[in-house]
Amino acid sequence: MMRAMNTLERTEAAEHALSQELDRLVIVKSTIYTSGERDPRVPMPRPSSEGKRLLMGHDPRLPKMPDKPTLFDFFNYRFAPANHLLQSARLAQKNGMSEKVVMACLVHDIAIAGFIRGDHGYWAAQLVEPYVDEEVAWAIRYHQALRFFPDESVGYRYPDLYSTLFGPDYVPEPYIQEAHRYARGHKWYMTARMLTVNDLYAFDPNVKVELEEFTDVVGRNFRQPEEGLGLDASPSSHMWRTIMWPTRYL
Ligand SMILES: [Fe+2]
Ligand SMILES: [Fe+2]
Repeated sequence: MMRAMNTLERTEAAEHALSQELDRLVIVKSTIYTSGERDPRVPMPRPSSEGKRLLMGHDPRLPKMPDKPTLFDFFNYRFAPANHLLQSARLAQKNGMSEKVVMACLVHDIAIAGFIRGDHGYWAAQLVEPYVDEEVAWAIRYHQALRFFPDESVGYRYPDLYSTLFGPDYVPEPYIQEAHRYARGHKWYMTARMLTVNDLYAFDPNVKVELEEFTDVVGRNFRQPEEGLGLDASPSSHMWRTIMWPTRYL
């Protein structure tokens, strides 16, 4: 009779299976992942795929997501660590903010955590727009611009971190300045502003906030599609699928 494998043997067997699977697969990165490191005008060399298949679904190097993924599944399998988001949401709660602000805080930087960095407020807003109140998506979209502009009335200052990261002379692009001007005059300005007030930069690496703290808030403020996030036909489902399967050939 065969002896049961111990943990080390199981790990090694799994690694061996993965490397065998990878040997049979060609995985091609999207231009957006490589642009800059390579010139996007130069044609990608055609993958040599002799005897191999192009990846068309789950990437075996990534943890597999459940068949009907929820928002929390994306946090657990694709956005972790999400400490900044969790701590911002907890701070908003502690400061007595409305659930809309707490919900917005919880997802405001998911584009940075798991998708695309540049214009992260716009990407995050678009990702969640079909599933949240309009005001929540609006606040997430405009937090990106409002971050650059102080508002003394609520004690919001230009972040010191930005001076360090971008240099003291950095001036936001005209579209960001215009977005700020527009947001200032909007009825939901304070929702987005409160998001920036609770958007913690100096978060404490020793404080661990559990996602489950927000189960009820998310239950009330995020319309989870029955088919699973990314497998419904919403205007942003393709974006969730791209996060789930980032290396599909087509
Ligand atoms: Fe942000
Ligand atoms: Fe943030």
